[in-house]
Amino acid sequence: MLRVLCLNGPNLDMLGRREPGVYGSLTLPELEERVRRWGADSGCEVECLQSNRESELIEAIHGAADFDGVVINPGALTHTSFALRDAVAAVDIPVVEVHISNVRSRDRWRRRSVLSDVAVHTIFGRGPDGYRAALRHLVNRASCPVETRRYGPHPDQVFDLRPGSGRRGAALVHGGFWLDTWGRDTTESWAVDLHRRGVATANLEYRRLGSGGGVVPTLADVAEALAAASDALSPPPPIVIGHSAGAPPAPAVAARAGIGGLVLVSGVYDPAAPGVDEVGAAAGRRFDPDAATRLDRLAPPDCPVLLIHGAEDRVVPPAQSEAAAAALGGVAELAIVPGEGHFDVLKPASESWRKVADWLERLP
Ligand code: DQA
Repeated sequence: MLRVLCLNGPNLDMLGRREPGVYGSLTLPELEERVRRWGADSGCEVECLQSNRESELIEAIHGAADFDGVVINPGALTHTSFALRDAVAAVDIPVVEVHISNVRSRDRWRRRSVLSDVAVHTIFGRGPDGYRAALRHLVNRASCPVETRRYGPHPDQVFDLRPGSGRRGAALVHGGFWLDTWGRDTTESWAVDLHRRGVATANLEYRRLGSGGGVVPTLADVAEALAAASDALSPPPPIVIGHSAGAPPAPAVAARAGIGGLVLVSGVYDPAAPGVDEVGAAAGRRFDPDAATRLDRLAPPDCPVLLIHGAEDRVVPPAQSEAAAAALGGVAELAIVPGEGHFDVLKPASESWRKVADWLERLP
């Protein structure tokens, strides 16, 4: 059981009453209640503290040596407090920074965080669920060794390497409708499960909409990351596993990289098609206005391909994988998994993920 300290900074005691259009209607006690419950579900015992005083937050961090990690929403101190930043840098425990709102799409001054580069991870714009993702990130970090490597100067040009038994490696391309509010923490559950199965992984980050991404820079990043990850994982050539919006960039760059197999999970290849979640359809128009990543515009990859989709996916309908399988002209194996939705496959206990793991096991 991990012990986690959850700190909330100035004005977060006003949640529920404070700008509900931005922060929602959940009060601080309700949020803390959820955080403790999410913690218990993911194997953490969580202690919560809120303070409007910078000094109290600094002292809480100094005193956190008994904890395995800290989740902190520093409120407006995020943008100004070098003293809080120094406190995070001074302690030898992982600190995850969380913001309920999308700090990068609001006032200009909110875009800067003086803490992000000393935090092990930053999550923003996912509402209260960001705290759950932060707890899971701490659990995942604690469950196997991880090394973050850089493949370019932008903060998002990184990947996380986790070791395997040397037999095989996989590069993971996370989804999230190409938006910068979603990051590689979403595919960490795969990385940890694959580590347990002896498969080394590189969990790729790349620039997304809001952080300098768009079809050209994003595909360039995924290609660059994949080349760097292949060197780190090789031999043999890695399998590439893409989820949702991370599925189409995978074949787009795979042809250039020489890979051992491709797994495309709950992929969104045509965001303008009926049934795609509205946020995804809007992001798709911004990301790839000319639909250059549509699978039928790409050369079929020269490696085994598995397409997998939950039959109950309400975010990206399974028709997308069916059309993609048809476009690949029979080179791909297609599995539509009854009873599972868009995010189920991210749980290692799901039937969808079991199918992926079995397929990997069967690869020569
Ligand atoms: C916040 C964002 C900050 O800019 C703001 O000052 C807060 C809350 C968030 O959770 O979105 O107080 O950290």
